[in-house]
Amino acid sequence: MTIIMEIQLWREILDPYRLAVEELVVKFNHIIEEYRNAGLYSPIEQVTGRVKKISSILDKMQKKNIAIEEIDDRISDMAGIRIMCQFVEDIEKVVEIIHNRTDMEVIKEKDYINHMKESGYRSYHMIIYYDVYTLDGTKRIQAEIQIRTLAMNFWATIEHSLQYKYKGNMPKHIKEKLLKASDAIITLDEEMGSVRDEIMDAQNIFQIKATLVSDILINIQNLFKVASKREVLKIQDEFYKVYKTENLEQLERFSKQLDIISEGYKAQSLN
Ligand code: GTP
Ligand code: MG
Repeated sequence: MTIIMEIQLWREILDPYRLAVEELVVKFNHIIEEYRNAGLYSPIEQVTGRVKKISSILDKMQKKNIAIEEIDDRISDMAGIRIMCQFVEDIEKVVEIIHNRTDMEVIKEKDYINHMKESGYRSYHMIIYYDVYTLDGTKRIQAEIQIRTLAMNFWATIEHSLQYKYKGNMPKHIKEKLLKASDAIITLDEEMGSVRDEIMDAQNIFQIKATLVSDILINIQNLFKVASKREVLKIQDEFYKVYKTENLEQLERFSKQLDIISEGYKAQSLN
């Protein structure tokens, strides 16, 4: 087969997976945004995605004796999504969110958090069916979602690069070190969990403040179009004063007053 043909073949195979990864990342990022816009704590901290590299696909085909026509069915991680959470407790919330979606059909789950792998690896894995729409019509593909805490991700990343370095022949003392590190990660996640409420409160307040400030600034900007310059500048000065007090209630009150003023102008312009 010529190189050009091969490249074309791989593109045809991989294109739907690329689309799926892009869409899924957008969707999970949107979940984060919805939580934050509502002033709520988001159980998802960060999302990444990737399409499996051709070299890794070839490795897997060889290892598991998979023919090219079978890869859609037998390689379930051609599309891979990784969801990072701040706390272990967030993981079940994310699992629930995924179960409740109608655009993702869960076909397999592996709980390596309550059942750690021998290597020390921890993560929650879900294989889903996901529909993508192409010129050839609907294509139902599999995607693997890995859900883990930031600490678990840190461990898995290091362990993965060591696995790569030793190509399956990891020395015993390195394996032992990794197992010890894995224990340390469990402890770290537990410690973080015990201060979760406090951390969440602090983040919540920060988020509420950020949303309020952005609401206020949008409001002031819109007022520029309808109110007199003098009035808007007065409002702006007032805002800076309130902002400097670092008092959240005062900022909330100011935002509500501003809403009322804006509504007043809207009503006027309708008349
Ligand atoms: P494959 O490993 O994909 O052939 O299938 P499987 O049925 O063994 O799935 P499993 O859920 O065990 O692993 C899927 C993915 O999880 C892997 O491709 C890795 O990304 C990750 N993973 C599994 N085990 C480990 C591990 O010990 N270390 C690290 N770093 N990642 C792991
Ligand atoms: Mg495996």
